[in-house]
Amino acid sequence: MCGIIGVVGSDDTLATLLEGLTRLEYRGYDSAGIALVRAGETWRARTASGTESVAALKEECLRAPKGFTSGIGHTRWATHGAPEAINAHPHLDCSGNIAIIHNGIIENHTEIKEDLESRGHIFTSVTDSEVLAHLIEEFRAQGLELMEAVRQGLLVVRGAFALAAMDATEPNVIVAARRISPLVVGTAPGATYLASDVPAILDRASAFYAVNDDEIVRLGPEGFRAIDLEGAPVRLHQLSIEWDLETAEKGGHDDFMSKEINEQPNAIRSTLLDRRRKDGTITFDEMRISDDELRDVKRVCLVAAGTSYHSALIAKYAIEKWARLGVDVDISSEYRYRDPIVEVGTLVIGVSQSGETIDTIQATREAQRRGAHVVAISNIVDSSMAREADAVIYTRAGLEVSVASTKAFVAQVAALELLALRLAQLRGTLPESEIDGLFQGLNAVSAQVQAVLDRRENIELVAKELMGAHDFFFIGRHVGFPTALEGALKLKELTYLHAEGYPGGELKHGPLALIEPGVVVIAIATDPAMHEKMLSNLSEVKARGASVVAVATDDDEMIESVADFVLRVPATEPMFTPMVDVVSLQMFAYAVARGLGRNVDRPRNLAKTVTVE
Ligand code: AGP
Repeated sequence: MCGIIGVVGSDDTLATLLEGLTRLEYRGYDSAGIALVRAGETWRARTASGTESVAALKEECLRAPKGFTSGIGHTRWATHGAPEAINAHPHLDCSGNIAIIHNGIIENHTEIKEDLESRGHIFTSVTDSEVLAHLIEEFRAQGLELMEAVRQGLLVVRGAFALAAMDATEPNVIVAARRISPLVVGTAPGATYLASDVPAILDRASAFYAVNDDEIVRLGPEGFRAIDLEGAPVRLHQLSIEWDLETAEKGGHDDFMSKEINEQPNAIRSTLLDRRRKDGTITFDEMRISDDELRDVKRVCLVAAGTSYHSALIAKYAIEKWARLGVDVDISSEYRYRDPIVEVGTLVIGVSQSGETIDTIQATREAQRRGAHVVAISNIVDSSMAREADAVIYTRAGLEVSVASTKAFVAQVAALELLALRLAQLRGTLPESEIDGLFQGLNAVSAQVQAVLDRRENIELVAKELMGAHDFFFIGRHVGFPTALEGALKLKELTYLHAEGYPGGELKHGPLALIEPGVVVIAIATDPAMHEKMLSNLSEVKARGASVVAVATDDDEMIESVADFVLRVPATEPMFTPMVDVVSLQMFAYAVARGLGRNVDRPRNLAKTVTVE
């Protein structure tokens, strides 16, 4: 999730770019850069100093030539290529005239790069984005104007992009385009702006416009015009922005928690992008373990903490079901002290949003000491865990600011289930046709999540009804059990109310003694194979006076006979239900917490990353 900014026609261009990048840092910052462009001259500066990248860039720009009135800037959240200056944006074409910045993933960058190299193009980075600069160069060399050259280039590209391009041989013009990754345009007298998010240009522009998927915009000092990918003119939708800067950084949401809950469709989509070759092979660019080593894995052990532990539990079901491999899942802080047995062929997977949780880092170090191969699932590029692991699969949820994890969780589940499919592919435990069907199903989850997000009103009504309750049990079966654990953790973290997650079949082994009027039981009842048993669990608790909430599919006609409240979700493949069902539980916890006046982004006693044991 990178940040991009551009301006045309401003006599304050350098300051505009640098201040805008400062405001975009919350979108991710492992490197930064700008390009200033005028007739016959493109001047570029790039830095890679982690969280100090923009500060370092400001230093670098002290030597910038004066008098530029147009430029583009970028803060990078690396997905392809290490966070080093050589990979920082803007990228230039071979002539050095064309500069581009990009947020997103070019899925077919490998084949485009091979073709361009065969035409003599020299690449200087290992990013997917750089192909855009050389692709545009190809079409400009055919005499096309910059806007048409960008359009022709994007007809070749597959994947997600928010792109801006400039060319010193066509000065005072920025051409920008968008697919999946956000992009807004701003106008003011004599200058036109673009940015990933409104905050970057909030104090410069006076009118704001959303760029929609597959729309291309040409910005000049006096304004802009837009076309679609076929070249037909389009009108951009004007945004009504009454936000102050802080609200703008939350995308118009009241807090980062709400913003991140609503970013989950994109988090899943981005995590799944560029993960499959044309021949159907599932690939992880960051996997430095050979296919043979993966094929020889005899047992898998996942280690994680908190929410990441819950996604690890879900991975157990998927790997065992699809790859027919035995899986253990350990709380990180327990793994280290149980003198774990690590036999030859053991693959240890450390799951961590931050990649810095000391308990999980120590657990993966212990596993490596005992001879295991270690894969890290991390949301932060080049995190400690990522650097120490034998291989990394990055989730691409973007920066997660709120202490309570939401979008990283669903992205972890998507990445782990993809890994399970890869293991099944290597071991031949599933026919390719079934892997293909499951892969397609995974790609449909983001739309199903969006459907749940659109049902906020009903979830808020249920939360309001149960606002006075003090004891909550979340129950589920199969992957519904880790989902229940995650729902309970969200409620605890955000509301400070007591909540526990249990397997549905476990209630009668003790917890049922706690069920009485006033206790709330929230049941995950979306898996058809578990449905009948979940209904009987609900009848048991309802008979003892509990208030019953059920997460159920849209087509479930029996649930209302046993539930007081129903949170409806679209039906999906059982193994994918956690990513869909959990959204209802996140929104429920958020609504109760807001009703109680809690600080949902900064719950008491908690930290975003636990770097103490
Ligand atoms: C989840 O909402 C909590 N913030 C916490 O349980 C978190 O998942 C845990 O500390 C692990 O963090 P990690 O994923 O960065 O390793």
